[in-house]
Amino acid sequence: MFEGLKRLRRMEGLPIINFTMRIKVAPSILSADFGRLNEDIATVAEYADMIHVDVMDGHFVPNITIGASVVKCIKSKLPLDVHLMIEAPEKFVADFASAGASRIVVHAEACSDLAGVIGQIKDLGVEVGVSIKPGTAVSEIRGVLDDLDEVLVMTVEPGFGGQDFMENMVPKIRELRDLGFKGDIAVDGGINGETCKVCISAGANMMCAGSYIFKSQDKAEAIESLRG
Ligand code: DX5
Ligand code: ZN
Repeated sequence: MFEGLKRLRRMEGLPIINFTMRIKVAPSILSADFGRLNEDIATVAEYADMIHVDVMDGHFVPNITIGASVVKCIKSKLPLDVHLMIEAPEKFVADFASAGASRIVVHAEACSDLAGVIGQIKDLGVEVGVSIKPGTAVSEIRGVLDDLDEVLVMTVEPGFGGQDFMENMVPKIRELRDLGFKGDIAVDGGINGETCKVCISAGANMMCAGSYIFKSQDKAEAIESLRG
C-alpha cells in the first residue's frame, strides 16, 4: 500500500522511510457541533486514534473556542491531544491536565521559556508537544526536540478550520525527520485524503483534520483515507 509513496521518494532522491508505521488520525473537534460534542465525538471514536482539541484565546489567534471546563466534559476513551493556541500557556497547563488532557501541545511562539513550559507539562504527568506556525522555522525548536512526544506542524495559519493546506510547510516535516526526531509529527490544517499523502511521504505520522472528517458522509471512510 506504500509503494506509490516509496516510488515518489525514490524519484525525489529521498531515503525510503519505514512506511509500515501506522498513521494516527486525530479528528479536530473544532469542526464538530459544540452543542452536541460528546455525540459528535462518538461518531468518530471507533475509527480514530486521538481526539484533537483546539483551544483558542482570542489573543494568540483571532478566534475563541473552549477552555478547560469544557474539556472536562468530554467523554471519550480516546486520548485527548490538546492544542493550546493561547498566550502564556504556562498559566493554564495544569487546568488542562486535570481536565483530562493526555497530551498538551503549546505553541513555541507563545512561550517565553519554552523549555520551562515543557518541563512543567511533563511534571503534570502528561505527554508534551510543541507546535510551530507557518512563519516559524524548525530551527527555533531544535534544542527541545529530545523532550517532545509530538511536533505539530501547522499547515495553515492557526485560528480557523476549513482553510487551504499550505504545501510549502512540508519541508519542515522532512527537516524534523532528518534531525532524527522520532516522536509523532502531526500536521494540522487543510488535511484531507489528498493532502495527507505528501505529509506522510515526508515523514508525518499523525493527521489532525477537522472539516474533512466532520463534514463527510462516511466518517470511517474519511478517517481511513487519511492513513495514506
Ligand atoms: C486550526 C486548528 C485546526 C483545525 C483544522 O487553527 O488548529 O485543528 O481544526 O481544521 P481543518 O482540518 O478544517 O483545516
Ligand atoms: Zn489544531
